[in-house]
Amino acid sequence: MLFQAADCAGCHTDAKSGGAPLAGGRPLATPFGVIFSPNISPDRQTGIGAWSEVEFRRALRHGIGRDGDYLFPVFPYPAFTGMSDRDIGDLYAYLMSRPAVAREDRPDELRVPFRWRFLQRFWRVLFFRPGPLRPVAGESAAWNRGRYLAEAVVHCQECHTPRNLLGGLRSSRAYSGNPHAPDGMKVPNITGDAATGIGKWEADDIAALLKTGQTPDMDFVGSGMAEVVKGTAALSDADRQAIATYIKSIPAIRTEKKPAS
Ligand code: HEC
Ligand code: HEC
Repeated sequence: MLFQAADCAGCHTDAKSGGAPLAGGRPLATPFGVIFSPNISPDRQTGIGAWSEVEFRRALRHGIGRDGDYLFPVFPYPAFTGMSDRDIGDLYAYLMSRPAVAREDRPDELRVPFRWRFLQRFWRVLFFRPGPLRPVAGESAAWNRGRYLAEAVVHCQECHTPRNLLGGLRSSRAYSGNPHAPDGMKVPNITGDAATGIGKWEADDIAALLKTGQTPDMDFVGSGMAEVVKGTAALSDADRQAIATYIKSIPAIRTEKKPAS
């Protein structure tokens, strides 16, 4: 369920070219060049079959690869870092049970200096706060569960929060949308602003969208969100309701206009 909600297979499968699940090779466009996702099937030579659970944890919690290099944050480890120890362990067990596929990783096409992994050191100091999310006292269990799923697992902010020139999330504008997201995605404002966000949506509308992909105007979401819904459809109704509760609590932010979809 976590594996689906986090969409590990979506990024790590080159579905457009008929690539095998988790064998990598999907091109991901970033403002700094194209990255090809690596093979994370349990193949020992070309995938992560030889990785220990400790090494896997270090990748998800700290964004560090097996050889100690910094991973690029196109891999949403700045969100996954918030997962619990238990959930990361469960993901490892599940991934290792998937079919192994031999497929070499394709080198990235990043421009200098962005391909220099050591420069990630500075990015991390500025934008990365490692560690599992701790429940916020005084908030309901549903709100805390929703926050955990939205922030750490489904990583809504990775798309719905605008970024600065260095690619860091602009936290002061959290969830206010990103009209210029990678891959040409126009990501809408989902804060509670009535005119430019989803202030008119009830919590039930958000929960329904995460199950069926349908909006209150009877439209279906497309683009990257259709992919996300495939994952959130695998969650329980209570989990989707929890995400909706959390999203409804986010401070409203007015944006210039609603990006056309
Ligand atoms: C938005 C796309 C995206 C999603 C979602 C995603 N990944 Fe990745 N992942 C990447 C990219 C791109 C890299 C390569 C980063 C780099 O080269 O620095 C990567 C790297 C990794 C690595 C390091 C592999 C290696 O060979 O160094 C692991 C392990 C990994 N991802 C596991 C996962 C798991 C588990 C999930 C789901 C919980 C997941 N990823 C979800 C894009 C994604
Ligand atoms: C991979 C990027 C991505 C992620 C992750 C993502 N979204 Fe979206 N979301 C989009 C895009 C793109 C759209 C616009 C879809 C369209 O144009 O049809 C969208 C649309 C929406 C809408 C409809 C808003 C409107 O005005 O019609 C809601 C609500 C929403 N997302 C909530 C969420 C929540 C909650 C999460 C996390 C649980 C999430 N999204 C995660 C990319 C993403």
